[in-house]
Amino acid sequence: MNSASKITVVGAGHVGMITAQKCAEKELAREVVLIDVLEGRPQGIALDLNQAAAVEGYGTRVVGTNDPAATADSDVVIVTAGKPRAPGMSRSDLLAVNGKIVEAVARYVRERSPDAIVIVVTNPLDPMTALMRAKLAFPARRVIGMAGVLDASRFSWFLAEKLGVSVVDVDAMVLGAHGDSMVPLPRASGVNGVSVTELLDKATITAIGERTKNGGAEIVNLLKTGSAFFAPASASVAMAKSILRDEKRLLPCTCLLNGEFGIEGVYVGVPAVLGRNGVEKIHEIPLDTEARIALQKTVGAIQKDVEALRQLGLM
Ligand code: 2OP
Repeated sequence: MNSASKITVVGAGHVGMITAQKCAEKELAREVVLIDVLEGRPQGIALDLNQAAAVEGYGTRVVGTNDPAATADSDVVIVTAGKPRAPGMSRSDLLAVNGKIVEAVARYVRERSPDAIVIVVTNPLDPMTALMRAKLAFPARRVIGMAGVLDASRFSWFLAEKLGVSVVDVDAMVLGAHGDSMVPLPRASGVNGVSVTELLDKATITAIGERTKNGGAEIVNLLKTGSAFFAPASASVAMAKSILRDEKRLLPCTCLLNGEFGIEGVYVGVPAVLGRNGVEKIHEIPLDTEARIALQKTVGAIQKDVEALRQLGLM
């Protein structure tokens, strides 16, 4: 166990609840604080998780609370709070409502956990990460968005299904926004080192890329209320684990670019090394012309949402 560490999970909805569970089961910290504005829910979930500890054999203590004071001195804060999409909604439709939630969370994280590394999960992911950074005024390496790990995991699953191979042997990369303009990278995705461009025809790869882009919406439509929770929680915990255990995994994450890929001052999904300092390096992997154009397009979509946040007076 990381005996000195403390993780706060903000939002006790499905994603937050499962994130707290996974953090406890993996013993990523001494204490996991689950905070929500809803009275009783985080406390009930925490008690349930603590009652599971003897059976599962984990020593992490889970604290459920409505009080920001309980989150003080967190090493990692995972922000899942916010409204999910309903069928027919785009993630951008959540800008105003979730922007206010991010603003409120940033207020107490800044004050109570000034050294934390913050992982944003709230949608629309890229502008919410930019907003969180603006409100926290933390170094950019300590404010990171979770999207690429989830989107790449979805891409991996669809590729594995199509190829009839174990998903364990599939490695996929997805860059860009967590939205319709995301950029799956077939050339950087493969099975045990063999690129999928060698294994599948272009039309099939394009169709799988499209299904990946709609991976979240497909689940929203099936569930009718709420959106995906298992894979988003898994992706968030993988990032937290790489940070807390200083694993230095190369994961696609939403990071502030400072000239990398020719992009300046925009939060967008790129391959990054995550370690105890947060984003320790952004890897400028080579992109073909098609991917470069797609990345520029995705940046345009993110900038539009950030501009909408400005119009709303949130940024
Ligand atoms: C998703 O893609 C919730 O945005 C998240 O499922």
